[in-house]
Amino acid sequence: MTASYPALRLRRTRASAWSRRLHAETVLTPADLIWPLFVTEGQGVEEPIASLPGVSRWSLDGIVARAREAADLGIPCLALFPNTPSHLRSDDGREALNPDNLMCRAIRAIKDAVPEIGVLTDVALDPYTTHGHDGLVDEAGYVVNDSTADALVQQALTQARAGSDVIAPSDMMDGRIGMIRSALEAEGFANVQIMAYAAKYASAFYGPFRDAVNTRGLLKGDKNTYQMDHANAEEALREVALDLAEGADSVMVKPGLPYLDIIRRVKAEFRVPTFAYQVSGEYAMIETAVAAGAADRDAMVLETLMAFKRAGCSGVLTYHAAHAARLLNA
Ligand code: PBG
Repeated sequence: MTASYPALRLRRTRASAWSRRLHAETVLTPADLIWPLFVTEGQGVEEPIASLPGVSRWSLDGIVARAREAADLGIPCLALFPNTPSHLRSDDGREALNPDNLMCRAIRAIKDAVPEIGVLTDVALDPYTTHGHDGLVDEAGYVVNDSTADALVQQALTQARAGSDVIAPSDMMDGRIGMIRSALEAEGFANVQIMAYAAKYASAFYGPFRDAVNTRGLLKGDKNTYQMDHANAEEALREVALDLAEGADSVMVKPGLPYLDIIRRVKAEFRVPTFAYQVSGEYAMIETAVAAGAADRDAMVLETLMAFKRAGCSGVLTYHAAHAARLLNA
């Protein structure tokens, strides 16, 4: 039997800061954060991204400095995305398989300089193709599943050989998780993890990311034939079930805040490590609101990140990772 007012007053435990801390049901720490970083060619280069205020592309030296900063802040893992020079982009995205591409050089530079930090690498062809799609496109403009999956297996192996700790396929092709897992096992990469972008929606929230990797102007059409329809939730559970059966170590839901219901359902149904990607458009919404004087950045960053933890996430990919870690360490 639960007591009721006035014997029970829920405000009683909220009345002081020590008590609020004691009764907190969820914790957020820097260990919950994955920091996405954009890599570009050159030396000493920092290129601010206009639609992602406060986020830049960094050349390898800057990327290593960010990795050091992240490790010092207690952030356990980085996520890397390359801005491939345009002369290296092609129809088939073959630069993705070059063992000396920007991504592989970034992985090696970070692992040499800051070996204690985890490196997660995105598997998908979009930063390497001239059409901006995540896979191989036929004459009709359709992204072909099975030949794309073959290319993604090679891309994943290329990243694992360079030292990637976590392979994160973001392409939404069918069957690729199982194919990548067996290829990794066959090459002796038993401890290389796979974090599947399992429920990735075709979303209006990816715009600034496409600026960051310079695919916005290139993209022909949309990604609706491979990314999920935002009307669907049951289908997300089927995607997650398949990726887990194929060998994913953890799953991701993307975007983040508009899909908290999906996170909650995935966690309840499968009880596996579940991550959210608070994507570029979500970051831009917060920063735009702050610039307009409509929001308090620090409070909004911490509240949104805590929401992911409360919904059941093990961690969150967020462009606010370093800022949030600084706030949490203060
Ligand atoms: C592409 C990829 C995208 C993002 C991560 N990997 C964009 C897309 O699918 O077009 C988006 C991340 C963000 O918006 O922050 N494979």
